[in-house]
Amino acid sequence: MRNTPIKKFLIPVLGVFEPLTFSMPFIREKKGLISLVIIAGLVSNLSLLFVPIFIGDSVSALQQGHARYIIRYSLLILLAYSISAAVSFALNYGSQYISQLYAMNLRKVFILHLLGKRFLFFESQTSGDLLSRGTMDIEATRNFIMNTFSSLIPTIFLIGEGLVLLYQVSPFYSLLLALATPVLVMLGMRSSRKQRTVWRMIRKTYGRMGEILQENIVGQRVIRGIDAEGKEIAKYSMETQRYYDENLTVGRIRGLYNNLMPLTVASISSAALAVGGYIDLIRGISVGGLVSAVTIFSMLTNPVSFLGRMVVFSENSRAAIQRIKDVISTENEEDVNSGGFNFQKGPLEFSRVTFSRGGRTILSNVSFRAEPGDFIGITGKTGSGKSSLVNLIMRYYDPDSGKITIAGKEIHEIPISILRRNVAIVPQEINLLSGTIKENILFGLESSL
Ligand SMILES: Nc1ncnc2c1ncn2[C@@H]1O[C@H](COP(=O)(O)OP(=O)(O)OP(=O)(O)O)[C@@H](O)[C@H]1O
Ligand SMILES: [Mg+2]
Repeated sequence: MRNTPIKKFLIPVLGVFEPLTFSMPFIREKKGLISLVIIAGLVSNLSLLFVPIFIGDSVSALQQGHARYIIRYSLLILLAYSISAAVSFALNYGSQYISQLYAMNLRKVFILHLLGKRFLFFESQTSGDLLSRGTMDIEATRNFIMNTFSSLIPTIFLIGEGLVLLYQVSPFYSLLLALATPVLVMLGMRSSRKQRTVWRMIRKTYGRMGEILQENIVGQRVIRGIDAEGKEIAKYSMETQRYYDENLTVGRIRGLYNNLMPLTVASISSAALAVGGYIDLIRGISVGGLVSAVTIFSMLTNPVSFLGRMVVFSENSRAAIQRIKDVISTENEEDVNSGGFNFQKGPLEFSRVTFSRGGRTILSNVSFRAEPGDFIGITGKTGSGKSSLVNLIMRYYDPDSGKITIAGKEIHEIPISILRRNVAIVPQEINLLSGTIKENILFGLESSL
């Protein structure tokens, strides 16, 4: 595909399906339901498309003086609407079901990855930002996936089925619609490009707002104790002002294109009506046929412009997917297989261990041996690396060089979960989790009681 305009058009249009592709591993277990929802989308629109055909036929029947057929056609129209309504239930409930399943499974994977990440990962992230990925971003993608099943796929079917039906009635009208489609979709894409960067900024700002709020709640004693409320309030106000401005920017872009779209649809429809009607009548189409063609045509212009809008919405969702992927597809703590591992107690030994952080050497060539039963005190001024040394035993971080062994076995050969279950630390910062004091004291031990 050398032609860049075609590429420019096709890549974002196909990108509309990226959230669907992303969701597949999380909803695969419900293949049957997914197929059912897709079939529902196909049927619900197909039955509606027969309505203009019945209307056209009844007009032709009237013209030929067969008034009694009217009742038959009106019953058929009622039947078509009834089928569509019944199927819509399956479509809407099924889409909700699938998207909620997606979100639930994704949340489970998200927390699994979050608690499996290297400690270094958290140092390059802010908690507010991670929080918004695990909540707002997942919800945004869930919403888009629901819309994909309930609206996007049915709309694509509708346009396909409509084009085929329209071609039967009036090839000229179907040609006009085929020509108008890229124009309408392009318009949606133009707006999507303008919105993409703003959406990314909005997500970041939202994350920062959450973070400042969280810091203020957790650290309120410190902040109020040193009378620094004003500074925090100003910091939060600045972010919320930014959030406000960014949302208004999106509002402006949307406002402009949301008006431009219906206007374009209306211009295309009225031009098509005039030209198509004229040509079809000259070519001798029946009045009933013309009524069907015009009605099908006007039934399809809005769905086509909706496709363009879905491209716009997908931008938001794809930005969110990228942020979720940054958590669930980046490297976790690697672990050796813990199956059948037998942990040996014995001396702890550091041999020429060097550890650096952010370009600074914190531990340099540290060697010592602690025998079982030894009490060892490590002294040093603040920031000299005492906690870092303990962190290395837990493998929160890995040394740059040197060896750490327990009973002669290098600790990176011991499965992390087994290592951490056998080494106890009392950290200098306390962290109470939700629950009672008893539950906090017994945390992690419940199963062994
Ligand atoms: N997450 C981190 N990123 C970068 N540098 C860090 C990080 N954590 C600690 N350091 C640096 O590593 C050095 C050692 O810190 P460490 O916490 O091990 O010291 P410590 O001896 O336990 O100090 P304290 O007596 O205050 O507990 C310090 O200079 C600190 O700035
Ligand atoms: Mg310390």
